[in-house]
Amino acid sequence: MESKEVRDKFLAFFKAREHTAVPSASLVPENDPSVLFTTAGMQQFKPYYVGAKKADQDFDSLNAVSVQKCVRTSDIDEIGDDTHLTFFEMLGNFSFGGYWKEEAIKYAYEFITRELGLIIDYVSVFRDEASGIPADTESADIWHRLDPTLKIKEHNKDDNFWGPTGEEGPCGPTTEIYINGVEVWNIVFNEYYKSRDGNYEPLKTKGIDTGMGLERLLVQIQNKNNVFETDLFEPVIEQIKSLSKNYDSKSARIVADHLRTAIFMIADSVTPSNTDRGYILRRLLRRAVRFADKLALSVGSLTDLVEVVENIYDQIYPELKTENSKLKTEIQNEESKFRETLAKGLKEFEKGIDPFILFTTYGFPFELTRELAAEQGKNVDEADFKTKLGDHQSRSRSNAEQKFTGGLADHSEVVIKYHTATHLLNQALHEVLGEGVEQRGSNITAERLRFDFSHGAKLTDEEKQKIEQIVNEKIEANLPVNFVILSKVEAEKTGARHLFDEKYGDEVKVYYIGESLNTAYSKEFCGGPHVEHTGVLGTFKIIKEEAVAAGIRRIKAVLQ
Ligand code: SER
Repeated sequence: MESKEVRDKFLAFFKAREHTAVPSASLVPENDPSVLFTTAGMQQFKPYYVGAKKADQDFDSLNAVSVQKCVRTSDIDEIGDDTHLTFFEMLGNFSFGGYWKEEAIKYAYEFITRELGLIIDYVSVFRDEASGIPADTESADIWHRLDPTLKIKEHNKDDNFWGPTGEEGPCGPTTEIYINGVEVWNIVFNEYYKSRDGNYEPLKTKGIDTGMGLERLLVQIQNKNNVFETDLFEPVIEQIKSLSKNYDSKSARIVADHLRTAIFMIADSVTPSNTDRGYILRRLLRRAVRFADKLALSVGSLTDLVEVVENIYDQIYPELKTENSKLKTEIQNEESKFRETLAKGLKEFEKGIDPFILFTTYGFPFELTRELAAEQGKNVDEADFKTKLGDHQSRSRSNAEQKFTGGLADHSEVVIKYHTATHLLNQALHEVLGEGVEQRGSNITAERLRFDFSHGAKLTDEEKQKIEQIVNEKIEANLPVNFVILSKVEAEKTGARHLFDEKYGDEVKVYYIGESLNTAYSKEFCGGPHVEHTGVLGTFKIIKEEAVAAGIRRIKAVLQ
């Protein structure tokens, strides 16, 4: 059975059991600053579990089913073995107060044994006296009633308790299905909400969240030894094999995995950068380049492999083909950028292994240096690297801050937050009122921000609401805030906003809010300081809008 049929079967099975099929959310989570990437199918449904949204108002029922694109990079060192991947698709069925353990277990059992004809090796249920959370004897009973011959193992909280994603959120005990010793299906009984202080509060509405990794399941269905032999990988591995002049299967697996993940990330609008998501993408691509070299693939082969991946997902994610030129350009650019320093970096590496120098001067991700060192049987000191990097970052921040002093009331945390909010407001005003808006003054205290700008008319309620909504969306998106120092001419070329009658030096600092300077939501000439991520700002609210002179309006706004 091919992967496409498995996805279709799964969706049809649950649709026939009163589930609404919901399309995969983007890999970049909307409105969830607790994680960088979508790591599980349940993530887009968090509001339904906590009662913030009502499932039956958005779906026809209280249940949903999806095939979700996911990224997890915490196990990046394991890639190359038989089961780990940085990108995977997760088949999941969900209930938000509809059904509970009995049905969830029955559905899973039926799907695995009848629809797919697979034989369950054993199942696991939660028991952990030390955790203070009651053992899940109910699930054990249900399994036993369904199949008295089934082997049931009891696992502790490390293995059979899931969530939350991020620091807080819904979570609960799990029951898991194993086939040939491999965990294929995780069924979570969301009955608690873990708060930031570490408490487990019972959820008002209990929820079901299940996740089954498609690639691992395919290994069983297609009777393969590992995920790279399934139809989702085989064509890529074959192509690498035919192009490689120095083939080894581990390197091929790493290239295939990392490239596929990079493709899906870029298609969801992530671009390589030095922060957050962009940095994870950069690391994957740079690691892929290095292993492509090990395989003696020719320069640029990664770009040639893009089409092979696109063809695999032709009917499922047609957007990969639509984005073909963007995918190729981003991958090509990152490869070229890395190659500018790779050879010199490798020479430096031979002289002596300093992961910090290799990172700052030659753009080697730390893991890469560690791998290169390990190949020579050497260790690198991660703690030392982190300390040096931390010092370096705070030094460059404070140097830059001294060089470009701006006019803030003080540098307290709250004033800094208002400062970043002012940049978001400035951009939102342009979006809503047009490019005719010009900043005429700004004043920030610990209580509020005040922003004066040119505009001929009183703002309507709709305009004010729209501005608030945009700013709050940018806050919720938890965008990174960074700066670059550029010559004044270069800085102007970036299109960053600045005041026309202000005297700037030959070098200016451009603060940008967003993943990279090119894709940033807001760009301004500014001395800083700013918060590191917009997510900390809270809720933005306009409290007053008035005229201060002919054609000049003033907005006062607060962060709540
Ligand atoms: N959230 C659980 C997991 O990711 C089940 O979907 O494994």
